[in-house]
Amino acid sequence: MFEMLYGFDAIVSGLLFLCWGISAILVRRLPFQVKRKKFLLILKFLLLAIIAAEFFVILKVAIVMINGIGLGWEFAENMTVGSLTFLIPVSFFTAVYFLPRIARTIRNNGTDVIQQEERKITADQFVQIPIRFLAVVSFASLFIAFVPLVDPMAPKVTLLFGFYVASILYLYTQNRRLTRALEHSQMLVWPRFSITRFSLIALSIVIGSGALFFTAKEESKLPGVIAMSHEISGHTEHSVSVTELKGLPLGVPDRRITLRAEKKQVTLSSGTTIEAWTFNGELPGPEIQVRQGEVLEVKLINKDIEDGVSIHWHGVNVPNAMDGVAGVTQDAVQPGETFIYKFRADQAGTFWYHSHQQSSKQVRKGLFGSLIIEPKEKLDTEEEISVVYHNWETKNGFVPALGLYDTLQKKKIKPGKKVRLRLINADNLPRDFILAGTAFQVVAIDGNNINKPSDLKKTRLSVAGGGRMDVEFIMPDHPVKLIAAGEDFFDTPDVGILFSKDGSSQGVENVNSNKMKNYPVFKPEKYGSPLSTPFDLSSSFDREFKLVFDSVPGFYDGEFHSLYTINGKVFPKTDMLEVEEGDLVKTTFVNRSFMDHPMHLHGHHMLVLSRNGKKVTGSPWWTDTLNVAPGETYEVAFLANNPGIWMDHCHNLDHAEIGMTLHLNYKGVTTPFEIGKDTPNQPE
Ligand code: C2O
Ligand code: CU
Repeated sequence: MFEMLYGFDAIVSGLLFLCWGISAILVRRLPFQVKRKKFLLILKFLLLAIIAAEFFVILKVAIVMINGIGLGWEFAENMTVGSLTFLIPVSFFTAVYFLPRIARTIRNNGTDVIQQEERKITADQFVQIPIRFLAVVSFASLFIAFVPLVDPMAPKVTLLFGFYVASILYLYTQNRRLTRALEHSQMLVWPRFSITRFSLIALSIVIGSGALFFTAKEESKLPGVIAMSHEISGHTEHSVSVTELKGLPLGVPDRRITLRAEKKQVTLSSGTTIEAWTFNGELPGPEIQVRQGEVLEVKLINKDIEDGVSIHWHGVNVPNAMDGVAGVTQDAVQPGETFIYKFRADQAGTFWYHSHQQSSKQVRKGLFGSLIIEPKEKLDTEEEISVVYHNWETKNGFVPALGLYDTLQKKKIKPGKKVRLRLINADNLPRDFILAGTAFQVVAIDGNNINKPSDLKKTRLSVAGGGRMDVEFIMPDHPVKLIAAGEDFFDTPDVGILFSKDGSSQGVENVNSNKMKNYPVFKPEKYGSPLSTPFDLSSSFDREFKLVFDSVPGFYDGEFHSLYTINGKVFPKTDMLEVEEGDLVKTTFVNRSFMDHPMHLHGHHMLVLSRNGKKVTGSPWWTDTLNVAPGETYEVAFLANNPGIWMDHCHNLDHAEIGMTLHLNYKGVTTPFEIGKDTPNQPE
């Protein structure tokens, strides 16, 4: 609905500008007319143009109102402040003041000569200025439809209002000249086109916008070194460095693993080869399996990734020193170097790990793998299969695949067995999965169990970029098919897994990614049964933050992009979320942009309180990566119980790379590490 309304708004804004623009040109010409016939003709056109314009004003008001009421004030804010506050009163004034006068003049079929009275009506300042000003406002309105004023609105709104005032002053002085001339003579002379004046105006526009562009480009250049400690206030004698935040002493590890980052050519099931960056030569990296409560030690060795690597344990609330973010909790590990990660695997569930040095590039190239923490009490499932979705970069573009399978994979499973699929989306965009041929249950989201899941069928499971979903089913006598797809490639051949007792596909339900477009999407907020939670919507929060996302064309580090801003800003200018240990924190996400933003908070789990203003009514929905779709609003809460400096960013890593990231900072925590091109660390 959001995208449609915004598109509609852009179209109406265009039509509005067209109608008021034409009206402005016509009304300016009117007093200069000599022949009454032509005068009347123009007047009639003007009448039509104004009526059409007034209609579009009403339409626009309706659209903005529907947006505001349906989606929230944030979705109506830009248009209301920037354009409607002027459009509504001025166009209303024009309708009541000028329209009756035009109508009267047209009806009055007098002589062939224009009456001085008629001319005066059209030269009236209350006619000329409002109509021409409406053209200015609707131009701005069209502009705002594409370049929002964004939060914080104040500076741009001041600029816009200044522009409005300047144009009214200009129109006023011009009109003064017109009416004065009219007082002195019957006839007005259309001002001669002055090439000098025209070129002066054109030149100043070119120079002005060029200068604006250039300064924006220069200003966007990132400093070579960004100290991640720099902004922390409350930097007192009690301050603690992230490097000290290792948690409780752990003793001898239960599980030791070595992950070696190395370049390697890997072949997909279709035969396509990839110049990959791997862990231990495998793609995806080796699956790490531990039991809940065990101490895991991972030795990271960088063989030949020139820019360095790191490992972040996505979704696991490790102590801050183990979080693996280059420039925040450690330096990137250079070729030939090693780094030891050690933590207790306290939460059971489906997780993944990936490099958090140049994450957008390194994850794309393959530096990631699944991390499964088995619960203390063994699951009653007999088959557990990790399904890792990724888009591999090949010579012929991106290829969707589950693990290394870019073709349909076949797996034999005995009927009657309980199967758990651990779906992991290691891609930037939300990905849809569908399981055909059996009823199934979603038993966990982001490693958090769902309370009393119910049976589902013909339902699209949309997994956020970086998110996970665990699905269980009992293997039937006939085959079951898992299909993965995304909106950007509904028409490509199926990527998925065929489960059957004997490897044959006989009797398989015919689904394909094209067909699944019509299946309803799984709604976690209504799924399962409620359970008491440590906090909810009615809790009193120690801190509340609101993060509004916009798409704004602009520069990042000297390059032009469609930026995704958080409260109008991109990193390193984004505000940080400053908390103290023990705080109960509520965060509201509002997505006014046209892309999905899977928001990922490190080191904590967020409890979803509401989606689009509606309370979550199903099982408690805990998440670490929450997809906020265009037009959506979410309220989430978390307990600040894991001191450190934590990233909170969009897990569309391409968005994070151009600044869609901020940090959750605990008061008194500092870091010796730095980010920037003059340091070894580029976390995104
Ligand atoms: Cu999966 Cu900040 O990362
Ligand atoms: Cu994003």
